[in-house]
Amino acid sequence: MTAAGGLRAERVAELLDQEREVYRRNHPGSERVHREADHLLGGVPFHWVNAYAVPFPLAIAQADGAHLVDVDGNAYHDFGLSGTAAMGGHHGSVLRDIIVSDVPGPGVVTGWTTEDAGPVGAQLAERYGLPRWELALSATEANRAAIRLARAITGRPMLVAFRGAYHGSLEELHAAAPGSAPAAGDAVRMLRFNDPGELAAALADEQVAAVIAEPALTNGGGVALPDPEFAAALNTLTKRHGTILIVDETQSGAAGYRGAGHEFGLEPDFLTLGKSLAAGLPIGALGMREELADAAARVLEVHPGGPWSLAGYGATVTAGPLTLRAARRYLSEVMTPDAYDRMNQLSQELSVRLTQAIARLELPWRISSLGAILGLSFREEPVRDGEGARAPDPVPGLRDYLFIALVNRGVLVGNLGGYIVVSPTNTERDIDAVVHAFEEAVRQLRLP
Ligand SMILES: Cc1ncc(COP(=O)(O)O)c(C=O)c1O
Repeated sequence: MTAAGGLRAERVAELLDQEREVYRRNHPGSERVHREADHLLGGVPFHWVNAYAVPFPLAIAQADGAHLVDVDGNAYHDFGLSGTAAMGGHHGSVLRDIIVSDVPGPGVVTGWTTEDAGPVGAQLAERYGLPRWELALSATEANRAAIRLARAITGRPMLVAFRGAYHGSLEELHAAAPGSAPAAGDAVRMLRFNDPGELAAALADEQVAAVIAEPALTNGGGVALPDPEFAAALNTLTKRHGTILIVDETQSGAAGYRGAGHEFGLEPDFLTLGKSLAAGLPIGALGMREELADAAARVLEVHPGGPWSLAGYGATVTAGPLTLRAARRYLSEVMTPDAYDRMNQLSQELSVRLTQAIARLELPWRISSLGAILGLSFREEPVRDGEGARAPDPVPGLRDYLFIALVNRGVLVGNLGGYIVVSPTNTERDIDAVVHAFEEAVRQLRLP
């Protein structure tokens, strides 16, 4: 079979046009919302919203569980779940409950703490096995703090990261993008994921403050799992060279109650989280080993009544009462061990059924999975690194076509990262719907 699996570029282009037309016809309300927001750049509240492969974005009217309804009344099975930020499902009822009944208590943002702080810290410590935590505004901010702290604690300049991983909108990891500070990327060594030899060479001069790694690459079309030797090398080489190991579980946390790193035997010095942790309200979290906590506390120290030195960390609206309450309830009521079990069982079922559909369709494609996250790659061999995870479509426009064809069949998947996220609120009917829509969309490609 050819790499393209016999699919023709002209057919993909033709179907893409047809699906765009169907989308325009079925979404006059979304188009109006887009038009009426013309005082916002690109007609959207935030430019990422324009990254979907549709003529204009959906305007959502209702979100509940794993379902969305747009302003035109079209209903969707949501397997995009905002790139895991809504991993537990859209918590209509929990959030409503918090906002209606809890907020009149401690407020939204006061600059002080609340009684929810202790239980949130204790929950994080119990799950992820790290005793001390600092909250942040987002996962990006948690990673930024982790990297700065690592440099401050070790006194070293360099950072190691892996190609294909995404850790947020960090200046130094997007140094090639327009607008970056001069030399923003000079203190970063970018390596190939799953390559212990490259890692050993990069750490040898002991100039590296931190290695930042996702336990598995979750930000491409397919998921790249770590080889056991690579996971072991992350642990042993960072320890040997006095480098801090930052494990970014922002997305891979979908793998299980204790995160993906735990399953692969990673021993993080710092661990970062964000996204769904406060039921969708902005939050980030940075956990750390006891040995590093004292050093971190000294860097972050504010002297009461003394010179005001916040040392370049944090934001005014971090971890306000509303966020803390949402995090406490999300951790204890929504993402329970049972919820992870259910989510993983459903995603395994979906993985098997999509794999069977691909076999029926006789295509050289592959489903890879990490807990609740499933990736589709257009190649048979497992994805092992960032280059594989972000490989271009074998036929131009193929991923865009699949995305919009699924939208038009009532199924949303992630197209920023290209993957599917299963939620504990999904049912067998949702699984049936995505398999059915996928198979139907792909069959169209085979027609003359
Ligand atoms: C692994 C990982 N880390 C960090 C981030 C940054 O999260 P946020 O954009 O919510 O700050 C992301 C976002 O996709 C991510 O996938």
